[in-house]
Amino acid sequence: MHSPRILRSSALIVTVALVVSLAACAPDPAPEKSPKPSASASAEPTPTPTPTPTFDKGAHSLDDPTSIWVVVNKVRPLQPNNYVPSDLVSTPVPHISAPLMRPKAATALEAMFAASTAEGGGALQIQNSYRSYTVQVNTHNRLVASLGEAKADAQSARPGYSEHQTGLVADIAASPSKCDIQACFGQTPQGIWLAANAWRFGYLLRYPADKTAVTGYIYEPWHFRYIGVELAAEMHAKAITTLEEFFGLPGAPDYAP
Ligand code: DAL
Ligand code: ZN
Repeated sequence: MHSPRILRSSALIVTVALVVSLAACAPDPAPEKSPKPSASASAEPTPTPTPTPTFDKGAHSLDDPTSIWVVVNKVRPLQPNNYVPSDLVSTPVPHISAPLMRPKAATALEAMFAASTAEGGGALQIQNSYRSYTVQVNTHNRLVASLGEAKADAQSARPGYSEHQTGLVADIAASPSKCDIQACFGQTPQGIWLAANAWRFGYLLRYPADKTAVTGYIYEPWHFRYIGVELAAEMHAKAITTLEEFFGLPGAPDYAP
């Protein structure tokens, strides 16, 4: 027989052993969440976020005829209307008439013509580029005489209202000629290549088929306006096809009465 004291001690030992073994079977405590690194714990400086480059719509004038962004249309004549660019050069590319353009437009056009040939667009030539106020008087009058004023106005600017007078425009033709100054130029390999790639060189197909109500002119797949790569790329990225829409200017379907 055991004494009651021994029995009490044994019971205590059993209880302690039980508690210890139960504790041993208990699942591991959930791992501690790793503490959030405090700003001061890191030796690396916090990087400054690079701001997303935003396009500056005010970078160039829309009114100054010397600006590469000048917007000329039936409600925005050149000012002064007899403006003559002071820096016209002869663009060193094949051409039908005198290939006068402003230097940046000429350089970009030369690169575009080379790329068209290299990339399978086909050979190009200038049909027409700078036209003075006086030349535009003759060009427009001839068309009015043959087509009547309404039809002439749909495809030829009145003097003082033509982008050609900025020295930033070329009417481009295939070489050898095919569909010169006709809508079917848009279906030639040259017309297709230009429509897709002109923006890479800073050029804009200025009179798209679906924007007659905005531009005031019929589809002119041959008329390309130099606006610089920055703006051309921005318009391309945003799929905006007219200067009027891009800059939030009123459409110019007709001249003021
Ligand atoms: N053909 C374009 C609209 C011009 O005469 O300037
Ligand atoms: Zn033109």
